[in-house]
Amino acid sequence: MKQISLTFAAAFSVAAAAPDGKQLFTTNCSACHMLDQMVVGPSLVEMRSLYNGKPDDFVNWSIAPQKKRPSVIDMPSMVHVGEEGLRAIYAHVMQVSKGVTAKKQEKGDPYAAAPTHLARPQVMRIFMPDAGPASIAVALDDINSLCWDAGACRLRYAWTGGFIDGFPYWQGNGSSLAKVLGTVKYTEQASPFGKDAAVKFLGYKVKGGLPVFRYKAGEKMVTESYSPVSGGMGFVRSFSVVTTAPLVLDFPDQSGVSVTADKGKLAGGKFTLTPAEAAAFTLTYSLK
Ligand code: HEC
Repeated sequence: MKQISLTFAAAFSVAAAAPDGKQLFTTNCSACHMLDQMVVGPSLVEMRSLYNGKPDDFVNWSIAPQKKRPSVIDMPSMVHVGEEGLRAIYAHVMQVSKGVTAKKQEKGDPYAAAPTHLARPQVMRIFMPDAGPASIAVALDDINSLCWDAGACRLRYAWTGGFIDGFPYWQGNGSSLAKVLGTVKYTEQASPFGKDAAVKFLGYKVKGGLPVFRYKAGEKMVTESYSPVSGGMGFVRSFSVVTTAPLVLDFPDQSGVSVTADKGKLAGGKFTLTPAEAAAFTLTYSLK
């Protein structure tokens, strides 16, 4: 009897200590790597064809990535994940990519192949000022850009002018910040789902060059996407929220910004929608 409980205890503590490859992948790699297609970096299917049976090479690459493919950004070192964590990620990548066929990269996908300083719209995973380490910079068009934080699952700020200067970042070791080229015109203080909403980032897609973010806010599944306003300064923000109860979002008024909604009631810093309205609604932000 004693023997058994000891074995259990040992097995349990090993399981508890083992790093979770899936979770580590989501936190550290998913912003740039997707299962079956190239986004910022190659797909997991491609990783599998390169590294199946070679965990050491996979770990070595992740700690000290090299410049290999033309016209993609440099992969930042993942040394902070640690060797054990990278091995867990390796196991996860090999497992989920097994038997999967890669999709052809969408032609003209600005994400992967275009000269990164020219294409608009453009989505870039980069370390941004005044945002979390999992931030994504989005150039909607030649004037309007924004920073969306995949860690906090929310818009951080929007600016007009140029896009970003990645030079400090590309030159550095991955911990320096890109520079915003232009003027920040809108800063969002907290998630519309509430300051303390428990959020979980589920990934993002790029459709026609524009990002579509998926996350959970509490129990609600949220899809949030961005597109440019036609001619002028601002952006269009579209949501789809799965909810059975009326949705009340925080939208504090801000000077310099006017927001209009295509449905729901926007008043007194709150935005109220029925579940049917919440399934698809759009907010247009005009900036001065
Ligand atoms: C900021 C974006 C970014 C992040 C985050 C990122 N990668 Fe990459 N990764 C890239 C890019 C870009 C390339 C292609 C680089 C090249 O070919 O020059 C790449 C290539 C790779 C490759 C292919 C290497 C080869 O031999 O061709 C592997 C494996 C890889 N990454 C693993 C990882 C792992 C594991 C993580 C997370 C721990 C990670 N990456 C996080 C951008 C990223």
